[in-house]
Amino acid sequence: MTNNTKLRWGILGAARINQQLMPAIVEAENSELVAIASRRPGAAAETLAKYAPQQKDVKIYDNPDSLLADDSIQVVYIPLANKEHAQWVLRAIEHGKHVLCEKPMALTVADIEAIETAAQKHKVTVMEGFMYRFHPQHARVKEIIDSGLIGKVRSVRSCFSYLMQPARQYRIADSIENGSGAMWDIGCYAIHAARLPFYNETPVAISAMAKHIESGADISCNGIIDFGDGKYAHFDFGFEHARRAEYEIIGTKGGLKCHNVWAKQAETPVISWWTEAGEQNEEILALANHFLLEVEHFSDCVLNNRNPALSLEDARTNCKVIGAALESVKKGRHIKL
Ligand SMILES: NC(=O)c1ccc[n+]([C@@H]2O[C@H](COP(=O)([O-])OP(=O)(O)OC[C@H]3O[C@@H](n4cnc5c(N)ncnc54)[C@H](OP(=O)(O)O)[C@@H]3O)[C@@H](O)[C@H]2O)c1
Repeated sequence: MTNNTKLRWGILGAARINQQLMPAIVEAENSELVAIASRRPGAAAETLAKYAPQQKDVKIYDNPDSLLADDSIQVVYIPLANKEHAQWVLRAIEHGKHVLCEKPMALTVADIEAIETAAQKHKVTVMEGFMYRFHPQHARVKEIIDSGLIGKVRSVRSCFSYLMQPARQYRIADSIENGSGAMWDIGCYAIHAARLPFYNETPVAISAMAKHIESGADISCNGIIDFGDGKYAHFDFGFEHARRAEYEIIGTKGGLKCHNVWAKQAETPVISWWTEAGEQNEEILALANHFLLEVEHFSDCVLNNRNPALSLEDARTNCKVIGAALESVKKGRHIKL
């Protein structure tokens, strides 16, 4: 029987990221974990035993289509490989499921547009899983900007990097066209965060450069998004650098920095800011689990018919900027949007 205070979730894939999402679905008061599917025999049961061992009644499916055919499931979480996202989001929508899809939702703008059309037709809610946005530190950043403390935002710098460990090399073993490499793995975050302070602005041009390896994957990239009128967002990401997970925002009267953007749960959230008037401050925020907040938010939106904080329009814009950055790298020139 369906309990309408708890959204009933199914997970499509025994991916590593379930280490974060599965406990979040279990913990969220407005959510219930109903099933998990994997195409690899034994992998779904193993994932469940590892990340939610106390959940005894979760159904195990040996293929994603059987999970989608289960009418008791209302929402599907998709943590499949990047190149598989769009096709499975569309299949889930056709089964009338609401969908939370891991980033990047799709590799092309055309696929995101197809998802938008299908979601409208089947009246379901679909969101791209940029979990970091649900950490309260970004609401605090917006509050500081909206207070006028740093003046009008002119420039942003967003950085996401770490030294890739040998065990993770499979993430760069294929080409960018097949969803592999730094852009789809961490660059999509850096670009998303670089767009953050320009809330309602439309990017007008992109310029980027990158380093590639033999597989056709990129392993580092730097670029600039032009928002017009002298407003620029710089992004810098890669697997050949020490760990950075930060953004900095410079306004006409001062600046601020968010130090742990893609924060691990145990990392203290810190925001520091300064003004031309000589003020300086560092704010230490409470720890928060952005995966849990993301799941609670999505369930709340579906249960109470609200629009999610991350719209499909936002997913489309992010994908468009990524596409233009990749084109800029390829053609070695500035790309107008
Ligand atoms: N939000 C975040 O913080 C975050 C962090 C990391 C990754 N991600 C995103 O989450 C998604 C999944 O990333 P991931 O690193 O967790 O993926 P992953 O472990 O490589 O798994 C991706 C899919 O590949 C299949 N798979 C897993 N292990 C396999 C193996 N040994 N051999 C063959 N197939 C295997 C699984 O499907 P089956 O079970 O059906 O076989 C699984 O759903 C990606 O889109 C990624 O961009 C998000």
